[in-house]
Amino acid sequence: MFDLRDVARGRELVMVSNRLPVDRVRLPDGSAEWRTSPGGLVTAVEPIVRELGCLWVGWAGSTDEEIEPFEIGSMRLAPIPLSSDEMASYYEGFSNGTLWPLYHDVISAPVYHRTWWDSYQRVNRRFAERVAEEAAEGAIVWVHDYQLQLVPEMLRELRPDVTIAFFLHIPFPPRSLFAQLPWRRQITRGLLGADVIGFQRVQDAVNFRFVTERYAGAPARGNTIVIPEAPGRPSRSVLAQEFPISIDAGGFEALAASPEVRHRAQEIREELGTDRTILLGVDRLDYTKGIRHRLKAFEELLEDGEISAQDTVLVQVASPSREQVEAYQRLREEVEVTVGRINGAHGSIGHAPLVYLHRGYSRDEMAALYLAADVAVVTPLRDGMNLVAKEYVACRADEGGALILSEFTGAADELRDALLINPHDIEGVKAAMLRAIHLPRDEQRRRMRSLRRAVYDNDVAHWANQYLGSVAAVAENRSRVLEQ
Ligand code: ADP
Ligand code: F6P
Repeated sequence: MFDLRDVARGRELVMVSNRLPVDRVRLPDGSAEWRTSPGGLVTAVEPIVRELGCLWVGWAGSTDEEIEPFEIGSMRLAPIPLSSDEMASYYEGFSNGTLWPLYHDVISAPVYHRTWWDSYQRVNRRFAERVAEEAAEGAIVWVHDYQLQLVPEMLRELRPDVTIAFFLHIPFPPRSLFAQLPWRRQITRGLLGADVIGFQRVQDAVNFRFVTERYAGAPARGNTIVIPEAPGRPSRSVLAQEFPISIDAGGFEALAASPEVRHRAQEIREELGTDRTILLGVDRLDYTKGIRHRLKAFEELLEDGEISAQDTVLVQVASPSREQVEAYQRLREEVEVTVGRINGAHGSIGHAPLVYLHRGYSRDEMAALYLAADVAVVTPLRDGMNLVAKEYVACRADEGGALILSEFTGAADELRDALLINPHDIEGVKAAMLRAIHLPRDEQRRRMRSLRRAVYDNDVAHWANQYLGSVAAVAENRSRVLEQ
């Protein structure tokens, strides 16, 4: 890893995200245990702050319980309590019933409820106040993701001394969709409280720069948004730019090279049948991930006789996600019915064409699955980045395997030598699956080599240096101005 201490120059780093990096999970016997939180945010950010140390403010994943601050290594964790009502209105409601679908191309219809919005404001304020109490003088405060878009403005009011960075892990929608949001002005102003706003793709930053002029009267000059002077407030500028997130590629490669993981990969291959081609899907069980489209293409290939359960298996790992939200419940039902139908129609004793695993796994097990898989199938209808695609590539130091990747992921901007698909085009997905299954070894090698170069050129250290480098430059500037 690299030394970010140079970037921080002695300033405290404060991470602020909806979830802490660990989640408090209640077990059936009533006891509780801590587990790594789900999703890409933790995968990407945790290796950075493990090195650097930080104060991390976030929700511990349980409701109606006050949890005292605690430490993990060099991280000091400050839990923010949520009531069960707030979980329903702020998290399941406004964050995942309004913003998530709106920001992902309205794949599912966003729902607008004023009571959810009230709760979103209240919880954002709680986060901002807690950070304002805890952050050291002149700290760098890094706020993450769509659940906390009002925090930058609220925090700026409370603590003008800190430098505020915001990173949006999901897409920022085109202005025609953002316009639907009844609270579009408040959200735009909320974000503009930051000094630096990072996005996954160029297009996300472009979309945002369009809306700031319309909804906050703040025009963009290139990557810089100029907030005009107001009574009692001088004009200021905000950097809004793409900083595509990544993974600790070396860490994943080393994990995949360990004897335990290699042994486990061999075991998985033997359990599934060494003469079968293994296709792999890994996602949170989320309607943005295109799991239904993937299953449909796979089912049609079985129906057409292009593949059979004897020669091919699709392993679909789908980790439980947002299980109280109706759209996720519907998706789960549909996926499980489809899996049953496909296995019922095309399986035989000893050979199911689909292995469906609805649970979370350790990182070692994930690496073993990546090593065992001949083809990774990544088909989101929209995804900010998609780290699974990068993890698969990082684990394949053998330059084997093939990656099918949706062009609607942020990762597709970098991983140009994947087999790129439009997941809505089922014929195209089928063709890519067949092509990947039969990809000659030298073409596999050529593509994987290029994909690996892309992942290593922009690994998490590079990403953090670029992003935090920009934030630190702003912090330096602000200190100079304050000293004058
Ligand atoms: P998102 O942030 O939307 O969940 P990403 O693909 O960017 O999507 O990141 C998902 C992260 O979660 C990856 O690091 C992946 O390895 C991990 N992950 C996904 N499914 C599982 C699972 N079943 N068990 C453990 N980790 C998982
Ligand atoms: O990247 C999107 C995101 O919401 C992240 O904030 C988080 O890492 C992940 O998805 C998991 O979602 P949730 O916290 O809702 O389980």
